[in-house]
Amino acid sequence: RRWCWVREGPRHGSLDGPTGGGCPDLNNTTWLEYRQQRVKLQVQYLLLTRGNVDCAQAFTHESLRDAQQPSYFNASRPTKVIVHGYRTIGSKPSWVKQLARALLGAEDVNVVVVDWVYGASFAYNLAVENYKEVALQISVLINQLHKHGCKLESFHFIGVSLGAHVAGFVGTLFQGKIGRITGLDPAGPMFKGADTYDRLDSSDAQFVDAIHTDSDYFGISIPVGHVDFFLNGGKDQTGCARSRFASILVYFPVYGYVICDHMRALHVYMSALNGSCPLMGIPCSSYEDFLKGLCLDCDVFRGTCPTIGLSPNSGITVSPVPKEQKLFLLTTSSPPFCLRHILLQVEVSPLDKSAEVEVTLTTENLGTEQRLRLHTGTTVYRTVLSHPVALCEIDSIELKNTGARFYRQADVHLKSVCLSEFPSLRREEPLCVNNINVRRGAPWSHDFVQVCAF
Ligand SMILES: *[C@@H]1O[C@H](CO)[C@@H](O)[C@H](O)[C@H]1NC(C)=O
Ligand SMILES: *[C@@H]1O[C@H](CO)[C@@H](O)[C@H](O)[C@H]1NC(C)=O
Ligand SMILES: *[C@@H]1O[C@H](CO)[C@@H](O)[C@H](O)[C@H]1NC(C)=O
Ligand SMILES: *[C@@H]1O[C@H](CO)[C@@H](O)[C@H](O)[C@H]1NC(C)=O
Repeated sequence: RRWCWVREGPRHGSLDGPTGGGCPDLNNTTWLEYRQQRVKLQVQYLLLTRGNVDCAQAFTHESLRDAQQPSYFNASRPTKVIVHGYRTIGSKPSWVKQLARALLGAEDVNVVVVDWVYGASFAYNLAVENYKEVALQISVLINQLHKHGCKLESFHFIGVSLGAHVAGFVGTLFQGKIGRITGLDPAGPMFKGADTYDRLDSSDAQFVDAIHTDSDYFGISIPVGHVDFFLNGGKDQTGCARSRFASILVYFPVYGYVICDHMRALHVYMSALNGSCPLMGIPCSSYEDFLKGLCLDCDVFRGTCPTIGLSPNSGITVSPVPKEQKLFLLTTSSPPFCLRHILLQVEVSPLDKSAEVEVTLTTENLGTEQRLRLHTGTTVYRTVLSHPVALCEIDSIELKNTGARFYRQADVHLKSVCLSEFPSLRREEPLCVNNINVRRGAPWSHDFVQVCAF
């Protein structure tokens, strides 16, 4: 059994913690301080393990070089390295402890937090200039830990925004031998057109996964890993305010407002670590095709859909693992974020191919109702619904003939209305009702008699 010895660095800061407020925390800086002493990056590391969940140990490579004291670091365990991103106002990232706790709750690991707040603050372009230097410094640390017996494949980097590219460059320095990199909405500005050498990509680690939630502003819109989860299409998240001026705010950010979409990747990831429900991505070439119901299964992965979280290779068992695989899923706006994907397929007779109908799905005991007004446009209309409950819990379907609002629509004849949940692991039959006449002014409804088999 081998040990890594990490000498504790000087203790500064005083925050919560059981030992009389002696627990180190991430640094912060002010504009004035930053202007006065812009000399070096001042990267420091914080170690958190199950043995010291509430009180981090701070260290630097200098303190590690002349290793003397034992610490909570255990080289027989895997190591998670958290790398934060750009800081608009020099404040420390508030979510770090929450992420570290979620990781420690899920696995018995060493959590190393990279604190580069000093180099990541104020001007985005300067933070971008610093990211490779930070990566270089981290690589010195990883080399030291490697010499102390930690295997390169035991490191898993979790990089948020710009931190994802920092992690990617560390991976480049180790020629892709690092075990895993997870990019949480990897930064887009100044990276989208970048060479793979300069940004996170699938060659940076043995496995690279990424979650995209704001690919139209702060995040990157292209796939950067083996698997790339695009949540709700990867651009706009449910429950986040929209602004036409968001692109201006890249340069004048209003913290907490436009950042909502961007930070969603982190919150969904933390929730996934809790393991309350599976967040499965479905492979598809585009979000539009996904919403049209053209991608319903995970057959390319032999039927196992990749999941967000810590499962090795995101649960993918095929080998070699595909690269730059775009995966789509719909989520809610709050934890645990999971939704059911339901395909609605309506087939009408050719005479009724521009029928307007309203579909309502009801689950009485849970008090949920989902209403959708659709214009078929073709004889077979397909759309994907994000539904709060499982298909087997839906009690009834109601159809209304609503076309009269736009033109004189007569009775509509529907050949069939079918609902199916996907990805379907048990290959259930779709729930269908056939040959329906939806008369004007008289809604049609049908009760499903079904039970959920758990
Ligand atoms: C910055 O950190 C110091 C301790 O290191 C703390 O006293 C101060 O309140 C922090 N400032 C901000 C804005 O968080
Ligand atoms: C935080 O940064 C300041 C420089 O702005 C430096 O003097 C101080 O030592 C740093 N504190 C920590 C905890 O790294
Ligand atoms: C270090 O980790 C290994 C593997 O989890 C464990 O067996 C061992 O007891 C740990 N050592 C200490 C001192 O906790
Ligand atoms: C994880 O679960 C715990 C309790 O089960 C809850 O308090 C916490 O808010 C959850 N965190 C997230 C990010 O969902």
